[in-house]
Amino acid sequence: MPPVPLPPAPGARPDDRGHTLTSIAIRGVSRSFPTADGRLPVLDAVSFDVPERQIVALIGPNGCGKSTLLRLASGLLRPDDGSIELDGRPVTGPDPRVGFVFQEPRLLPWRDAAANVAYPLELAGWSRERRAQQVQDLLSVIGLREFAATRPHELSGGMRQRLAIARALALGPSVLLLDEPFSALDALTRERFNAELVRLWERTSTTILLVTHSIPEAVYVADRVVVLSPRPGHVVADVVVPLDRAERDANLDMLALGHVAGAIRRHLEGATDDPTREELTAEVGRQRRARQVPIEELGVPAWFDPFGREDDE
Ligand SMILES: Nc1ncnc2c1ncn2[C@@H]1O[C@H](COP(=O)(O)OP(=O)(O)OP(=O)(O)O)[C@@H](O)[C@H]1O
Ligand SMILES: [Mg+2]
Repeated sequence: MPPVPLPPAPGARPDDRGHTLTSIAIRGVSRSFPTADGRLPVLDAVSFDVPERQIVALIGPNGCGKSTLLRLASGLLRPDDGSIELDGRPVTGPDPRVGFVFQEPRLLPWRDAAANVAYPLELAGWSRERRAQQVQDLLSVIGLREFAATRPHELSGGMRQRLAIARALALGPSVLLLDEPFSALDALTRERFNAELVRLWERTSTTILLVTHSIPEAVYVADRVVVLSPRPGHVVADVVVPLDRAERDANLDMLALGHVAGAIRRHLEGATDDPTREELTAEVGRQRRARQVPIEELGVPAWFDPFGREDDE
């Protein structure tokens, strides 16, 4: 896939390759919504950081406030308590450094695919020629070049999600907020997009906060996985994935990845006595050394599933 030429976002700091860098700090954020029976607390004193150039996955049960947290980070909503900062400055409204892919792709139904991707570029005052080039590149990246003239209702759900991703990338954001962006994709396309997201991140220095329900996706893509409790969501674990990305691609490290995945799963199930970050890192180190040993000698049964799914039989 061709590289997307991403322009620097206004007001952001460059790294040594000229890419812009932005960190996210979530500081004691609480939010509730009014209902017929009073206020519904949705987020309860949530705090964590996404340092510049990191990918943090956010995982938690339905309704625990993940989408609400992304809307707060994007400036579409305000917290009741606490604050969210980009590069140390509180978010007070939508910010041009931030690209947002909503849980349900919010495309403009009367515009075709190309015109949907072009929309933020028009708002930013790009010339027609520059827009056309950027739109072509982005449609190539998401594999929808032949669908440039197609309207959203004629695209599949997965294609619409891909289009929403292209639109979020249009202005070269230094922060990407992704709300289950791959949930409508088939398994193979999803794997390809996970890998493509990591490649895009390597090229662009983007800071990414990714909501997902998939533990394998979180462990494959993220530097850290923040686990939220049931509503009102608060942070129950912040699990580091102590493997570099080349190691994640190597099948032999499935045991180590499976160990991290197991820790996240236990946190989601409410465990409070899980390994510390140091213990987890040490255990993964042991697993990595153990990978030199034939799998039978580790006593791992043939049906072992590294991501801890239940055996159907
Ligand atoms: N604007 C709103 N007004 C009232 N209630 C809201 C509003 N937005 C969200 N909620 C409620 O807040 C709770 C959290 O919603 P949110 O969409 O953030 O959850 P989520 O963690 O993203 O869930 P899912 O995994 O299903 O996407 C839900 O109970 C929802 O009904
Ligand atoms: Mg959601």
